Amino acid sequence: PRVVVLISGSGSNLQALIDAQGYDELGGGKIVAVVSNQPDAYGLKRAKEAGIEAVALPHREYDSREAFDGALIKVIERHEPHLVVLAGFMRILTPRFVQRFYGRLLNIHPSLLPAYQGLNTHARALADGVSEHGCSVHFVTEELDGGPVVLQAAVAVAEDDDEASLKEKVHAREHLIYPIAVRWFLEGRLRLEAQGPTLDATPL
Ligand code: GRF
Repeated sequence: PRVVVLISGSGSNLQALIDAQGYDELGGGKIVAVVSNQPDAYGLKRAKEAGIEAVALPHREYDSREAFDGALIKVIERHEPHLVVLAGFMRILTPRFVQRFYGRLLNIHPSLLPAYQGLNTHARALADGVSEHGCSVHFVTEELDGGPVVLQAAVAVAEDDDEASLKEKVHAREHLIYPIAVRWFLEGRLRLEAQGPTLDATPL
């Protein structure tokens, strides 16, 4: 199965997926293209180093969100992906985009959803004094960070944690759970059905 990954930045989650593919732990999946709306995203270098087609699609060159998403859809569809993975892709997608890839569009978000949708999740969690924080993989729907959750990992918040340390802890968990969720999907075990996500209960 073919996978297209969308990024905007460092691409450490992309790297985790590339590594999983290298260890044959991605359900036979192959990352066929990485697309970034930020031309200088470090993740594009990671893709090239792994021999993956790296496409820069700067959103600033488009007049509207609709025009950008239209171009993005074209680039993605050239690769006929079974799955589109958002890995730190910092653009709000249009309903048209979400509908086009509905049920085969995953995102990772740095919070235990439904808590802390949106930005600055670590700072907000710290400000609230929560004892647990974490990350979530979810199917993307038109509701921003509101699609059905597939898999989560929690971390304990330590008394001396600051935004940077908490972010680092959560990131490490992201790198663990994203490849697992992608593998489940590509193995055909994870699906988005009318009533929500289903996971065939076979052992890890
Ligand atoms: C991660 O924290 C992810 O949860 C969020 O964006 C960040 C991407 O980090 N959606 P990276 O580019 O994968 O290092």
